[in-house]
Amino acid sequence: MAGLFLTLEGLDGSGKSTQAGLLRAFLEERGLRAVLTREPGGGLPEVRDLLLGGELSPEAEYLLFSADRAEHVRRVILPSLERGAWVVSDRYLDSSLAYQGFGRGLPLAWLLEVAKEATLGLTPRLTFLLDLPPEEALRRVKDPDRLEREGLAFFQRVREGYLFLAEREPHRFVVLDARRSVAEVAEEIRARLLPLLP
Ligand code: TYD
Repeated sequence: MAGLFLTLEGLDGSGKSTQAGLLRAFLEERGLRAVLTREPGGGLPEVRDLLLGGELSPEAEYLLFSADRAEHVRRVILPSLERGAWVVSDRYLDSSLAYQGFGRGLPLAWLLEVAKEATLGLTPRLTFLLDLPPEEALRRVKDPDRLEREGLAFFQRVREGYLFLAEREPHRFVVLDARRSVAEVAEEIRARLLPLLP
């Protein structure tokens, strides 16, 4: 039985990382092999600091996220899926479409063209979008300095970008109201996965 590729998306502070950990634990309880991974840094850990420093042009930033993603797909995600593991990635291409596309205004057509080669066309089977108003997301972030630099309008565009992407691909995206408790969100994720479990 081959594994499935699942991703979690959402604003900083939406609780993705917590849910990613719970999701891995759930899959393992079910006797599945699960690999938990993340972007940026899943493919080229060296670029993480550069990317989070926030000093780059949007184009350079996107190409670095893409370089990281190209390595992530080839070194981690595809080999794990081929071994039959389930892969849970905390962020993937939709982060770039939402942040670099809708947030920074880079053309989606260019982003998608680069992504086609970078990802070898690998698309998640399901993407859980933890949706949250940006005001609430900012309140939850422990070190909001990096984020506050961007301003609320940026995160508003990112959130709307995510919702646009979700509407465009309703069979892949599961939009979750991330204002609810961790347990409630985790329960909904599990419920959506049940039909896919072996
Ligand atoms: P990180 O510290 O991993 O935060 P989080 O726990 O919220 O994922 O920082 C990731 C940051 O990088 C986050 O602000 C989103 C951003 N990002 C992009 O702008 N584009 C991308 O393609 C990816 C993967 C992340």
